[in-house]
Amino acid sequence: MEVVILRDAKEIGSLAADAIGSLLERKPAAVLGLATGSSPLAIYDELAARYSASLISFRQARGFTLDEYVGLPADHPERYWKVIDKVFVSRVDFASGAVEGPDGLAVDIPAACTAYENAIREAGGVDLQILGIGTDGHIAFNEPGSSLASRTRIKTLTRQTRIDNARFFGGDIESVPTHCLTQGLATIMEARHVILVALGRSKAEAVHHLVEGAVSSLWPATILQHHPHVTALLDDAAAHRLQLVDYYRETYRSKPEWQGI
Ligand code: F6R
Repeated sequence: MEVVILRDAKEIGSLAADAIGSLLERKPAAVLGLATGSSPLAIYDELAARYSASLISFRQARGFTLDEYVGLPADHPERYWKVIDKVFVSRVDFASGAVEGPDGLAVDIPAACTAYENAIREAGGVDLQILGIGTDGHIAFNEPGSSLASRTRIKTLTRQTRIDNARFFGGDIESVPTHCLTQGLATIMEARHVILVALGRSKAEAVHHLVEGAVSSLWPATILQHHPHVTALLDDAAAHRLQLVDYYRETYRSKPEWQGI
């Protein structure tokens, strides 16, 4: 896993946008994996700015979101489908229908999960997956205890995740849904490149486990240690519990510029 520690979200957004831009140059019909939440917002802002400046286009690209709350009404502003549309998809030039998400309103949930796995596979798999990380070490909504071999399925959100996400629901934890559909850990592991963003002190413990801890379903993000191409983009606060922090900084400083992430 490559660990890159940068000054702030803006620098992180810019570096991730470089990687996405270079992917789209090589492969205009690339498949992007899109996370919601606050961590990737600077990436989406940077991509939208580059699109406005005609520096990047998503016209042939496709996208798959990671997860969706179960049971939120179709017009609820916090449905992840609506959120990703607002913060990213509607600001660039994806073709209509090119970005899909799991169907949190499906009557037949297992069938909707299988259909989602099939859709990702039929699109050729995810080329570049953007991820955040929960304070409890979840990626997508694979909460602690998730099978490391899991595929898209329904999960119960932990109380910690509902507390963390209450800020999007007027601070009221009871308004945060209890369940979600989420890509599994095995689904995410099939992405060709994973860019994980973590910002702030509240993520430091999860980041420590992600990078330096034992692989365990108790800290689901640790499965990424088995992935051949993961880039963890961190600010100083998120990196502050890393034991080998000086080594990671030195490694990135001495990396040839042409190498990218
Ligand atoms: C969102 C998702 C979650 C978030 C995580 C961190 O689609 O899958 O795993 O990435 O909860 O959320 P933020 O970035 O808001 O701290």
